Parts: sequence; structure tokens; C-alpha cells
Amino acid sequence: MRLVVLICLSLMLLAGGCRKAEVDEKHLGPGERMFKTRCRNCHSLPKRNAKSEERWRPFLERHARRAHLNDAHIDTLMQFLGNDSIK
Ligand code: HEC
Repeated sequence: MRLVVLICLSLMLLAGGCRKAEVDEKHLGPGERMFKTRCRNCHSLPKRNAKSEERWRPFLERHARRAHLNDAHIDTLMQFLGNDSIK
């Protein structure tokens, strides 16, 4: 009987663990998700704080054609890259 309870408890823990991972994924802002999916296609992910906010935008604009970014993509990325409160 105790074994059954133990198995149930560990299943619940496992399920809880999985659900938490999903939530964390959703907590990625759209800019962060775009950064992590788009910018890794050609090279390793650059450090977000590699450039200051005012240096990211012109860089992204130059990089846009190569990375297939339109203006909306750049704005979304800037919301992430320019936000110092996201670590
Ligand atoms: C289509 C391929 C491609 C994609 C997609 C791409 N890059 Fe690059 N990136 C390159 C290449 C090639 C270089 C090195 C040559 C150069 O700098 O022109 C580079 C260099 C860089 C550098 C270092 C050069 C510098 O001037 O600081 C940074 C930072 C960078 N990329 C950021 C990004 C970000 C952010 C994204 C997503 C928006 C991105 N890259 C998407 C191809 C790509």
C-alpha cells in the first residue's frame, strides 16, 4: 500500500515538473523567443548584453537582410535586447 502511495506521489511530482517547464517556455517573451530561434541559425547566440541598446538597433537593421528580419521583427527583438531587466 505504501508503495502505491509512493508511486502516485512520484508521478505527481514528475507531471508537476513537466508542467513547470512548459510554463517557463511560455514565459519567454516574444522577443526572447525570436532571438533564441532566429539568431542561432547561422552562429552561436550572441550575448544579449554584447551591445548597448542604442547599438543593437542599427546592428539589427544592418543584419536584417541576412537574418530575414522585417521592421516588426526588429521591434520585437528590441523589446528583448533593449530590456535590461531581463537577465
Ligand atoms: C543568415 C545568417 C545569420 C543570421 C540568421 C543571423 N546572423 Fe548574425 N552573423 C552572421 C554572420 C555571417 C556574421 C559574421 C560576419 C559579419 O559580422 O558580418 C554574424 C555576426 C553577428 C554578430 C557579431 C558581429 C558584430 O558586428 O557585432 C552579432 C552580434 C550577430 N551576428 C547577431 C545576430 C542576431 C542578434 C541575430 C538575430 C536577429 C543574427 N545575428 C542572425 C549571420 C547571421
